[in-house]
Amino acid sequence: MARGKFLSIEGGEGAGKSTQVRRLADELRARGLDVIVTREPGGSEGGEAIRNLLMQGDVKRWSSHTEALLFAAARADHVEKVIQPALGIGTWVISDRFIDSSRAYQGVAGGIDDAAVLALHAFGSRGLLPDRTLVLEVPPEIGAERAAARDGAAADRFAARERAFHDDVVAAFRRFAAAEPDRVRLIDAAGDVETVAAGMIEAVADLLP
Ligand SMILES: Nc1ncnc2c1ncn2[C@@H]1O[C@H](COP(=O)(O)OP(=O)(O)OP(=O)(O)O)[C@@H](O)[C@H]1O
Ligand SMILES: [Mg+2]
Repeated sequence: MARGKFLSIEGGEGAGKSTQVRRLADELRARGLDVIVTREPGGSEGGEAIRNLLMQGDVKRWSSHTEALLFAAARADHVEKVIQPALGIGTWVISDRFIDSSRAYQGVAGGIDDAAVLALHAFGSRGLLPDRTLVLEVPPEIGAERAAARDGAAADRFAARERAFHDDVVAAFRRFAAAEPDRVRLIDAAGDVETVAAGMIEAVADLLP
């Protein structure tokens, strides 16, 4: 049996990741594929327990280094318990965020070397990379508006950071796409949900059986 394909969806806060993950899963299922949707941090029982440590509490609860280790630990559990077993039985996996979020948030925006983030990933998750990574791009103010309309005042530890941090994140994803054009694709996510969904399916068309 052919292994499933592994897709990750990245982008800043409120870009529409969770919306588009569900849409893409529906599109792929309509084409006859087995698909699971998962998310980071979290995605497995242990990963979700670590997610609670990461997402709650004061913005300064963890140093960048501790945070990078917690993300890498959550991801290791997620890869081992959920992602690899699914791929092994031919199921496609779509993850709402993956390693490129660590590279952007803890790495570029948090001041940790990309090489160090990737070293943790090599140790924890055997360096697993997605077959395709779709980065949803919207200006940070539109993402912030979308998230605020959804959440009201309940921002998490990451959404609460200042504008410069979010600009660094957007710039980082753009650099990853330039460095690895075969794996990482930028998707204009400023349009309506249907338009963005069409761009997503087009960006994985070459992977379809
Ligand atoms: N293309 C779009 N146009 C307008 N609104 C959208 C679009 N896509 C998603 N939304 C809405 O914007 C809000 C944020 O979308 P969603 O939760 O999918 O973003 P996200 O990237 O997963 O956010 P987060 O980073 O907080 O997880 C939701 O209320 C969603 O319905
Ligand atoms: Mg989301």
